[in-house]
Amino acid sequence: MTDRPPIAAIADHRTVVPLLEQCGLPVADLAAGSGRKFFGSRGPDGLYGLIGLERYGPFGLLRSLAVSPDRRGSGLGRQLVARAEQYAASQGVSRLFLLTTTAADLFTHLGYQPTARHEAPPAIRATTQFSGLCPATSTLMSKTLTTPPLSPGNAMPQLSPREVELVAIGAAIGSNCLPCVEYHIAAGRQLGIADDTLRAAIALADKVRRTPARKVLEAAKAAIEGRPPVSGAEENSSPCAALSAAAGGENTG
Ligand SMILES: CC(C)(COP(=O)(O)OP(=O)(O)OC[C@H]1O[C@@H](n2cnc3c(N)ncnc32)[C@H](O)[C@@H]1OP(=O)(O)O)[C@@H](O)C(=O)NCCC(=O)NCCS
Repeated sequence: MTDRPPIAAIADHRTVVPLLEQCGLPVADLAAGSGRKFFGSRGPDGLYGLIGLERYGPFGLLRSLAVSPDRRGSGLGRQLVARAEQYAASQGVSRLFLLTTTAADLFTHLGYQPTARHEAPPAIRATTQFSGLCPATSTLMSKTLTTPPLSPGNAMPQLSPREVELVAIGAAIGSNCLPCVEYHIAAGRQLGIADDTLRAAIALADKVRRTPARKVLEAAKAAIEGRPPVSGAEENSSPCAALSAAAGGENTG
């Protein structure tokens, strides 16, 4: 046991810069972007260690693992990785990626495997770390988290893994989630679903997605032509929360 302060979320991302610079890790992209979360252990004299996570739908990019030189070798690095993994899993991330030039052995030790760059999903390849900040010689590593969000074993026991992926593709298309679409199509192929079946699932999901859009168009036409409202709302009532708010009214929606 050590008297190390607990690992907690870091609210002010500017405070991570000095330790990252001291450890020679990139900081150039810290101001931009969202969906990034940092965790750290902070003592009276500053941060002892930190780690960052960028989330892209079902994928995550671990970054910025750094431990102050005088605090190394006591397990803090391992605990930071565990904290980031725990958070990622709680957010529905099923696979983590990272790039490293210095700590491949450490990450191997923690269950990560070297991964070919073309295997990384497009959302990960598009990150600033991947596309520019980390040298081309960096090793890409990945780890599948133990509790995938759509596990037929615990989420939908009555469905086969292939059926789960087809449901997930439909949901991904319906919600316009680009990384989810890419992930679940790849996962479906890995499970042996034929491309024709995937195409049929995609076409069906797209058809369902277009139905409410057509209804909105119909409502607009009815309104302009003076026909009764398609929504069934009363004339001159204001069900639109955005308009009520703009007019200073209370948002009851
Ligand atoms: C990499 C770093 C975060 C490790 O922090 P740490 O607190 O010393 O790591 P830990 O004490 O938790 O070590 C975890 C395990 O990995 C091993 N380990 C630590 N650093 C290692 C390394 N560079 N190579 C191989 N194994 C390593 C430890 O022996 C330990 O093994 P154990 O669990 O069997 O005891 C720290 O050395 C650092 O900040 N380096 C500079 C920044 C950097 O390179 N970050 C990585 C960016 S991807």
